[in-house]
Amino acid sequence: MDYNLRDGGPVLNPDAGDADPDRKAPYVNNGTDTKDPQRYYSADQMAREWEQLWTRVWTIAGVVCDIPEVGDVMTYELLHESFVVVRTGEGPEDVAAYYNICGHRGNRLVLQDFGHVGNRFTCSFHSWQWSINGELAHVTDSESFQPEVLECAPDMVPVRHEIVAGVVFINMDDTAPPVREVLGPVAGHMESFQVDKMHVARHTRTSWAANWKTGIDAFYETYHLGSVHPQTQPVMGDIDVQLDCYPNGMSRMIVPIGKPSPHFPDQESVNEGLQMMLADAGLDAAGFHGKAPDVRPTLWDQKRKISDEFNLGWDNLSDVQLTDSFATGIFPNVQFGMHPEGAFLMRFMPDAKDPEKFVYDNITLVRYVDDPRFKVPDWMGLPEGTDYMAADRPDVEYKDIGEPPELGLVLDQDSELLPVVQKGIRSRAFKGPLWSEQEQRVRHFHNELDRYLNGEK
Ligand code: FES
Ligand SMILES: [Fe+2]
Repeated sequence: MDYNLRDGGPVLNPDAGDADPDRKAPYVNNGTDTKDPQRYYSADQMAREWEQLWTRVWTIAGVVCDIPEVGDVMTYELLHESFVVVRTGEGPEDVAAYYNICGHRGNRLVLQDFGHVGNRFTCSFHSWQWSINGELAHVTDSESFQPEVLECAPDMVPVRHEIVAGVVFINMDDTAPPVREVLGPVAGHMESFQVDKMHVARHTRTSWAANWKTGIDAFYETYHLGSVHPQTQPVMGDIDVQLDCYPNGMSRMIVPIGKPSPHFPDQESVNEGLQMMLADAGLDAAGFHGKAPDVRPTLWDQKRKISDEFNLGWDNLSDVQLTDSFATGIFPNVQFGMHPEGAFLMRFMPDAKDPEKFVYDNITLVRYVDDPRFKVPDWMGLPEGTDYMAADRPDVEYKDIGEPPELGLVLDQDSELLPVVQKGIRSRAFKGPLWSEQEQRVRHFHNELDRYLNGEK
């Protein structure tokens, strides 16, 4: 395989048809310019991002499985704003989204991350109420107001929302194109992995001392795996990933799993990591007599058997979808790692005040299978004892800067690295990132961001 990547790089499934989720997208030449590093720390950049990007772009507010009952709510904080998403009926799309404010004096209406309000929102300040459909329903001591004041008493202010594969997107801009149009092929990829049949097994929110784009940049490439996460080399690709850049800043990398990296010296032996993967899939690793290149086909067969046994409907998935990581960049601030058994929804949430701080919000979703014999694989990294069949979604685990993040080895390695990178980026000597074609998704992301900031979008 040729790894110069200057024509787009590897193709993992050469037989994929136009509509198939593993289809290689045409190479996008995003140029060679160097970006001014102030974009990673300046207050001016941060203000422009608020005006030009965050208030105009679709972002992910949450997943509908978190509000299963009528009257269930979840809140979503995006820099200076807070939104509340509420279930209003039994249908899959019976969901409303509002600015999370009280029209009386501006209090936040819903304070918790997730909860249940019944059929009304009640403000904690003076107990005004709104129905979950947004109509003003009660004004406390209304006779004490001059009538003119109450004439402009508002209903709740809706915010645009759309749902794709059980994922709720919101947008403050009423003139933005519909989310499916913006997502392009990514919407179909999410549907093919049946994300709407998953539910939340773990949710962590960790503060990191770096700009949100420093975070995105690191998660959008596998160039650093050999240096920062060498433990992945026996079982995971890096330079052999398939890289796809789509319109509107969307992108994807398919990371081959169940094979050694091309940088790993031994390409033949079934190393310890590969043996663990076989065992994790329910196979007899000790009795496996193949070589390393036989592991992936063996896993494909096994996963098809699992799909049949538990009626999971993975028949439509290609081989690479069964084993590999479909790490999908949903512009601007999400990496969504999708697999048949579950998905990792990672949001890089900018701090409202400090450009050198972001919250890494990581939701682990697992495919809901109502059969205790079904095993969520160990590679999903859920802590020992996680009850992934639990009726209630788990509480958010918060970790502030300085606390050990305890997100698993790979993510803990990233969390140590990024604040150091952020400090280096601030140096007078640093002239801006020099991206390889292994980092083409990063450049693709920054070019789209610039289109928003320059007024082209
Ligand atoms: S601020 Fe909400 S009722 Fe007064
Ligand atoms: Fe990393």
